[in-house]
Formats: sequence, structure tokens, C-alpha cells
Amino acid sequence: MHFNTHFNDIAQSYLFSTIAQKVAAYSAAHPGREILRLGIGDVTLPLAPAVISALHSAVDDMADKSTFRGYGPEQGYDFLREGVRGYYLSHGVELEPDEIFISDGAKSDIGNILDIFGEGNTVLVPDPVYPVYVDTNTMAGRRVLYMNATEINGFLPMPDYSVDADIIYLCSPNNPTGAAYSKAQLKEWVDYANAKGAVILYDAAYECFITDDGLARSIFQIEGAKTCAVEFCSLSKTAGFTGTRCGYTVVPKALVRDGMSANKMWLRRQTTKFNGVSYIVQRGAAAVFTPEGMRQIAANLAVYRANAKLIADCMDELGIWYTGGKNSPYIWLRCPDGMGSWQFFDYLLENIQVVGTPGAGFGANGEGFFRLTAFGSPEVTKEAVAGIKSLLKK
Ligand code: MLT
Repeated sequence: MHFNTHFNDIAQSYLFSTIAQKVAAYSAAHPGREILRLGIGDVTLPLAPAVISALHSAVDDMADKSTFRGYGPEQGYDFLREGVRGYYLSHGVELEPDEIFISDGAKSDIGNILDIFGEGNTVLVPDPVYPVYVDTNTMAGRRVLYMNATEINGFLPMPDYSVDADIIYLCSPNNPTGAAYSKAQLKEWVDYANAKGAVILYDAAYECFITDDGLARSIFQIEGAKTCAVEFCSLSKTAGFTGTRCGYTVVPKALVRDGMSANKMWLRRQTTKFNGVSYIVQRGAAAVFTPEGMRQIAANLAVYRANAKLIADCMDELGIWYTGGKNSPYIWLRCPDGMGSWQFFDYLLENIQVVGTPGAGFGANGEGFFRLTAFGSPEVTKEAVAGIKSLLKK
């Protein structure tokens, strides 16, 4: 017997676990100091009232013999898939219900989807990158190629036809950089993937932050995407489901390689390894897609957008270069005074007890950069921004 030795090729600890340990050590050494958390992209506002009421009534369903549910469909209940389908339609994207798979969140499906890909595939990811894309492939022993995302290309790398990739990860609005591709740029990616026979794994977890018309809410708004893309989305950031857990993955039926249908394979995979998201959670999720739910989550998103603007305005005032903050809950900034990412992390933590995420944790090109999130409470965000201003103006 031997374990999967590819685990030796990934970092010992997941980025956000490392940060949590560092912050816990600081708190233990400085009891009583309030920590202002703008690190991990975790929401702070409660679930919308429409969701709460749907959750309560679903709990009651489980208490009554006539409405009780046991195992549900692995790919999700129709009532929720219809909700998701309507949401896509509102962005001009037509999907068939069985192209939508309900999941417990985008992160799980982004890792799990690799089951349908061959081992020898070459993977292309941007650097900096959400670590899950790299770690899940490295665990499976796949070759990962990096494309440079830098200040020069606005952290939005474009296709290079001299590179042969099989699996391409794109995230827009991007985690960690907050930069978002225009529809025209995504069309270039779709054309590249179709020309190469590659598949784009498109992480749309932050699509609800888009307000500019020229940016895509879904890769399926781009002509040709259904033959080359799978899209992952989640209610985590859209509707505050980070702890409740519900997302959805769109696998178009037109995505076929060597006579094999990605949609059929994913269904086969899910029916084998997944028993679906709980009925109660799916009822709560379906409430998000009602007119009332949509109004309520819009109010929550407005709070996070205001936080993002506050942080971005602070960077403008300090003359610090950044991406994101608009169409995105993340602000990706160049560390002041040539500081390294982890050096700046310690500097903020020790002086003003603000926690952010060191850019270096997302890849080599992240060194010298730092990520702040807009998902904190308005009070914490204001206090953190005031602290940053007074610390860095000195
Ligand atoms: C982040 O902070 O990058 C996100 O919370 C990660 C995630 O959604 O898994």
C-alpha cells in the first residue's frame, strides 16, 4: 500500500487555514485586541428573510408524513433547477433543466469535475490563482501550466495560441484580483478553447457583483461557449450561503469530446458519488430566485458594494494601485513601500489588527500584492479603512 504521493507536491496547509492559525496565535498573544477580518471572502450578513421562511417551512415538511422527503435526485430538485434556469434566462441564457446540477457549492464541484477528465490532460491556470484549481489537479498528478497575470495585462491574461492546454480555468470577476473579463475578451477565450478542443472551467462565483454591461454574468452569454465550457456558481456570495451550502454547475449537452458527453459523464459521476443537497437547503435556495428573494439579496449585495467602494476610495486617496473594488467584492492592491505580501500582512495585523490575504498565497505573481474583501460588516470595514488610512498616511 502507498498513499497518493502527489500530496507531497502541494503546500502542507491550505492558504486560509495558515492565515487562521497565524491570526489565532496573534489573538492568543494579545488577548482583548479586536481583530478586523477582511481576509477570507466569507459573508457577514444573515440570510434573506424569504430564505429563512422557506427553510422553516421545509423543516416542517420533514415533520409531516405526507411531505417528508428521503433521498432526493442527485442532480437537484426540479423546483430549484427551474429557479436557476429562470435566473440564467434573465441574463439571456437558455438552458435545459438537465444541464443544471445542484451542488453543495462551487468549490466542491470545481474539484470533483476532474473525475470526468483524462489523467494526461494539461491544465492552464492564471498566476495568481484561487488555490483550489492548482491543488486539486496536483493531487491528481496533472501537469499545470501558468499564464502570467500582472499589472501589465490588468491581471487578465489572454490566450496564447502557442500554448496547448486541455483544461483552462477562468474566474471572472476574479478571485483573488477582482479583475473582470469583458465579453469581447471572453469571446477570445471561447474561440481559443474551441480551436484547441480544450474545455474552460469557468468559475462564476462572483458574477452577482457585476454591474457593467460590457461584462459577462455567465460564459454562456458568449457565442460558442456551450461547446467548450462548464460553469460553476454558488449561492455563497450571491445570497450568503457560505455556511448553508448550495451551488450549481452548468454542463451543456453540446460539450462533447471523442463522442463522450460531459453532461452524461457528470450525471454518472454525481449519481455514483453524491446524494444531493438536502431538501431543506434546496427549498431555502429556491427562495433566492423568487422576486422577493432577488429584491432582498440585492439589498445585501448593496451593502458589500458600499464596503468595496469604501476600500477602493481609500486606496485612491493613498495613491495605491489596485484592481477590483468595482464589479467585484475583492480589492487587490500593491503593497506600499515595496513590502512583500506576508510582510504587509504582519504589518497590518500588528499595527491595526486588520487581517487581509497575502497575494503571495495565490502564486508567484501575487508577491508584493495583497487582497482585502468587502464581505466584512460595514462597521468593521469602516474601522479597518480608518486604520489603514492613518497607518499608511504617516
Ligand atoms: C476566498 O476567500 O478566496 C474564498 O472565500 C474562497 C472560497 O470561496 O472558497
